Amino acid sequence: MFQSVRKNPKSTEVPVVLTAEGITVAFGGFVAVKGMNLKLYEHDLHFLIGPNGAGKTTMLDVICGKTKPVSGAVKLADGTELTRLKEHQIVRKGVGRKFQAPSIFGGLTVQENLTLAAETRRSPLQALGIQRYGKISSAMERITRQIGLQDRVHTRAGALSHGEKQWLEIGMLLLQEPRVLLLDEPAAGMTDEETHKTGRLLQEIARERSVVVVEHDMEFVREYAAKVTVMHEGKLLKEGTMAEVQEDPRVAEVYLGKRRDDHAVAETN
Ligand SMILES: Nc1ncnc2c1ncn2[C@@H]1O[C@H](COP(=O)(O)OP(=O)(O)O)[C@@H](O)[C@H]1O
Ligand SMILES: [Mg+2]
Repeated sequence: MFQSVRKNPKSTEVPVVLTAEGITVAFGGFVAVKGMNLKLYEHDLHFLIGPNGAGKTTMLDVICGKTKPVSGAVKLADGTELTRLKEHQIVRKGVGRKFQAPSIFGGLTVQENLTLAAETRRSPLQALGIQRYGKISSAMERITRQIGLQDRVHTRAGALSHGEKQWLEIGMLLLQEPRVLLLDEPAAGMTDEETHKTGRLLQEIARERSVVVVEHDMEFVREYAAKVTVMHEGKLLKEGTMAEVQEDPRVAEVYLGKRRDDHAVAETN
């Protein structure tokens, strides 16, 4: 066993958390994703990149159950097949999704938003347990600090900056204790400073969970990605470290060739 660990550390040492295999998605007659595969390991900070329309968001939609594929499977390590489940069941299985539009309550404070998120995680049985309640408040404290909003707990969420709102939402997702976190362009619209804070936050989160990030900003990917999957026209084009991906001439061709369009639509999708 030790020998095989040395030979192939990636496949034997780090457990696989989620496997998407042969995912095909059609919208009417248009096939947006074509036999796509994606494997997610424990502690991954895995970036999904590619030109606009490549099918990145659709892949996240399939994993979280928002979109059902015409074929293919998404399996957790315990064998659970997610494409058969409803969205809320997939959340309970430990897969959390952050959409581009924030879903925080602007009229409530940071703390109230976090409390609501923590409450929805609790089952009725857990809700009766004082011990569990203690655990929740310590998790809330830790997560509030992690997202950098410890001095903003009594601020109305609606009054937060754009970046702070995104972090609050990430905090709300963390309170659901997901094993897998899916984020669609989390740094979109952020200042440089906010973008770096977000990158560091994602690195920290990946120490405990697996994180998938759909991203447009190549600088951001270069700096923070542990692993990169490039999609093009619904298919996997290349997978590897950022250096490996950048070396592939096909990536430069499809990605950089369409980069200008990407920027034009980045605001709208
Ligand atoms: N609900 C939908 N109905 C029809 N076409 C869609 C729908 N969602 C996405 N598409 C199309 O599928 C393709 C992939 O979209 P998407 O996954 O959003 O790409 P990306 O996130 O990589 O930019 C695009 O051509 C898009 O127009
Ligand atoms: Mg998208």
